[in-house]
Amino acid sequence: MLLLWREAPCLPTMRIDGKVVLITGASEGIGAACAAEFAASGAKLSLTARNAEKLRAAAPAGAFTVTGDLTNEAGRREIVGRTLDRYGAIDILINNAGAGTYEPSWEMPLEDARYLMELNFFAPLALTQLVVPGMRLRKDGMIVNVGSIGGKVTLPWMTVYSATKYALGSLTEGQRMELRRDGIRTMIVCPGYVRTRFQQNVLRGATPDKVRDARRYAITAEACARSIRHGVEREARTVVAPRAAWLLVIAMRLFPSLVEARMAEMNGTA
Ligand SMILES: NC(=O)c1ccc[n+]([C@@H]2O[C@H](COP(=O)([O-])OP(=O)(O)OC[C@H]3O[C@@H](n4cnc5c(N)ncnc54)[C@H](OP(=O)(O)O)[C@@H]3O)[C@@H](O)[C@H]2O)c1
Repeated sequence: MLLLWREAPCLPTMRIDGKVVLITGASEGIGAACAAEFAASGAKLSLTARNAEKLRAAAPAGAFTVTGDLTNEAGRREIVGRTLDRYGAIDILINNAGAGTYEPSWEMPLEDARYLMELNFFAPLALTQLVVPGMRLRKDGMIVNVGSIGGKVTLPWMTVYSATKYALGSLTEGQRMELRRDGIRTMIVCPGYVRTRFQQNVLRGATPDKVRDARRYAITAEACARSIRHGVEREARTVVAPRAAWLLVIAMRLFPSLVEARMAEMNGTA
């Protein structure tokens, strides 16, 4: 037993100090809080979002910013290309930009569903494809995908959003195994309720009343960013923030009918 203990590998720890960190969706909310958190840990930041004014206002001193839309290929190539021109490498990619919609899946325009999939799934995949070649050459790197607790337990008020986050979670797991030999780690972040403007920034629709009431349990964007930074440092596979949200995941596995009934009631469809 003692021998096993002594032979056990040390717990991984990644230093953020001096690392180049590219964060998407950094003009507000969790992305802006991550920018502050990683800047405080000594990272060299490259930040992106569509709104130039908000992005500049949120960026910590010394951060490099590139304005662009991640739902088109030109925007994605520009942020990666200009970051590489500026710093020569990208060590950590944080795919945080995302959006939701409160439209019932059975009647929403497919155009909206495609847009969400483009932003929440294809943009992280495309950015990963752009940064991985450099990471493979250096045999080092980390891809952080900001999913959602809705990517572990489907939220009926955001069914298609949940589907995009399930897809992102599966991508993160698969890439961890694909890129293992190349020294590249991947991490999925599953925030529960975080106090940001996410609910106002949705494509369409309004938050069901009972879901809005749950806002009193929400954590701050800063607390979420701290969990993400800590997860990167310990090279975690999954970060659930707050950790209490794991209880919902476990409850759904053990008592699916009960949890589904309660969620339908929150959605106003029970
Ligand atoms: N808040 C929550 O309760 C919660 C819970 C679970 C998961 N999440 C996830 O956490 C991530 C961040 O959410 P948040 O709460 O911080 O949301 P937020 O406050 O609405 O911020 C979203 C960010 O994404 C950027 N963005 C949106 N569309 C974009 C586009 N087409 N191209 C480039 N950037 C775009 C926005 O900037 P511009 O408008 O300037 O482009 C903004 O900086 C998302 O992936 C979300 O799904 C949030």
